Amino acid sequence: MTFARACGTAEVTVGTARATVVDDVPVAVVLTDEGWFAIHDVCSHAEVPLSDGDIDDGHIECYMHGSRFDLRTGVPDQLPATVPVPVYPIRIDGDDVLVDVANPHHLEEN
Ligand code: FES
Repeated sequence: MTFARACGTAEVTVGTARATVVDDVPVAVVLTDEGWFAIHDVCSHAEVPLSDGDIDDGHIECYMHGSRFDLRTGVPDQLPATVPVPVYPIRIDGDDVLVDVANPHHLEEN
């Protein structure tokens, strides 16, 4: 595991995503009532940032065409996107949000 600082905990509020870059990888750090999530910040349908979309019911919705990606698996649950996006291990260390972009989770639905 190679965790690196993504942002500060105070920079993300519940129900929002914050765009950041970790080791040159674009990452959306998301906080929900269920906890913290880190998902690749590029839609798999076209190159737009997922962090500009809404967070709802454990998903982040692409603002461009409306595909919703599961924050736990990266799997889209509606068209037009059909390819999962990577999701990354995340942990909190004091006031820092740390993300490991070198070890994305498995992309299968679980
Ligand atoms: S660009 Fe994200 S669904 Fe089309």
